[in-house]
Amino acid sequence: MAAAEARPDAPDLADAAAAWRGAYVHIPFCRRVCPYCDFAVVAGAGEHRGRYVEAVLAEIGMAEPFGPLQAVAFGGGTPTQLAAADLVRILHALAERFGIDRGAEVSLEANPEDWDRPTAAALAAGGFTRVSLGAQSFDRAVLTDLGRLHRPDDTRRAVAEARDAGFAHVNVDLIFGSPAEDDRSWEGGVAAALACEIDHLSTYALTVERGTALSKAVAAGAPGPVADVQAARYEWAMTEAAAAGFVRYETSNSARPGSACAYNLLTWAQGEYEAFGTGAHRHRDGARAWNVRRLDRYLERVEAGRRPQSGSESLDAAGREQERLLLGLRRAAGAVPGRAGEALLASPWGRRLVEAGVLESRDGRLIVARPLLGDEVSRAVLALDLDG
Ligand SMILES: C[S@@+](CC[C@H](N)C(=O)[O-])C[C@H]1O[C@@H](n2cnc3c(N)ncnc32)[C@H](O)[C@@H]1O
Ligand code: SF4
Repeated sequence: MAAAEARPDAPDLADAAAAWRGAYVHIPFCRRVCPYCDFAVVAGAGEHRGRYVEAVLAEIGMAEPFGPLQAVAFGGGTPTQLAAADLVRILHALAERFGIDRGAEVSLEANPEDWDRPTAAALAAGGFTRVSLGAQSFDRAVLTDLGRLHRPDDTRRAVAEARDAGFAHVNVDLIFGSPAEDDRSWEGGVAAALACEIDHLSTYALTVERGTALSKAVAAGAPGPVADVQAARYEWAMTEAAAAGFVRYETSNSARPGSACAYNLLTWAQGEYEAFGTGAHRHRDGARAWNVRRLDRYLERVEAGRRPQSGSESLDAAGREQERLLLGLRRAAGAVPGRAGEALLASPWGRRLVEAGVLESRDGRLIVARPLLGDEVSRAVLALDLDG
């Protein structure tokens, strides 16, 4: 877990997370599906919620021994579409089955319109320590364009209520580059987020995911995100966040000292985590595996007493080394070069990235100095042939 005041981008912290253990719980329910979203979600499935909670509890009961846990994350979908008491029941089942370390991070994603004082109080009392609020924007027109159901003031209220309830860590997610946004609304949104009592800020470039309503609209001629505009908005947000005392520790994530997200750090360090619920991905015993994505199939399988896993992949030593570098380079702390890093630096593509100032060797680590070009680095890592 993050040491009390550790800098979010400290190399020691980034590397220590490789030994942490986590658990992820996916809650697929949403009031409605946002036009840009391609996560495993279902809208208007209220009648299945009780069955789903029981199925997740049963799935936890079927898991092989693991843990104890240093980081727990409830994501979605919208975890707050379940009653707080049900989320707490699931958390307690994880604690009983695996053990949760004192001081562990216990985080959930929430939509501002679902958040209220009783919910915040029940979750804090039940053991949750961190909430990540899907603010996306502080401009009403942009929120409407993104299909969101809350207003800017709902986010401000939700942050304050989380703090009042005793949440130690509060994040907001912002999305930049949506067609209805302009420089003014983005800059105002970043300022509004930083004016809330948050200690973590996630800023995501709007991505047009295949199969979404947004992608169909863009294919039919509607405006989509523009890369140069998104780059300028990203740089602006990073400068403002830094001026407010936030440290960027991954391409899209910044936090105050002591507030890096432990679950994030664990996943980028190839730490192991269990996972429960529809479409959930786990990483343990050196293998990556995933659950069935469809709600009806998930319920049928678990209710029949069967594990809902639908696939798995075990990487060989070379694949794991390549993955270590791929994930590690997302972090501001970068990664020790190792075999994959040495191969990257020796490759023509890697040399070009060094010459262009995108990739740097610094204090015995490889670092992506220009995070906007991180995708280019990822492609160069994926092109390495470590078996050859
Ligand atoms: C999958 S959502 C779950 C949390 C919650 N339901 C919400 O919408 O806030 C987690 C985050 O992913 C980000 N996200 C989802 N789809 C995205 C997309 N197509 N482009 C960029 N960010 C996206 C949003 O910022 C969102 O807050
Ligand atoms: S962005 Fe969040 S609220 Fe919207 S559909 Fe996806 S998971 Fe649900």
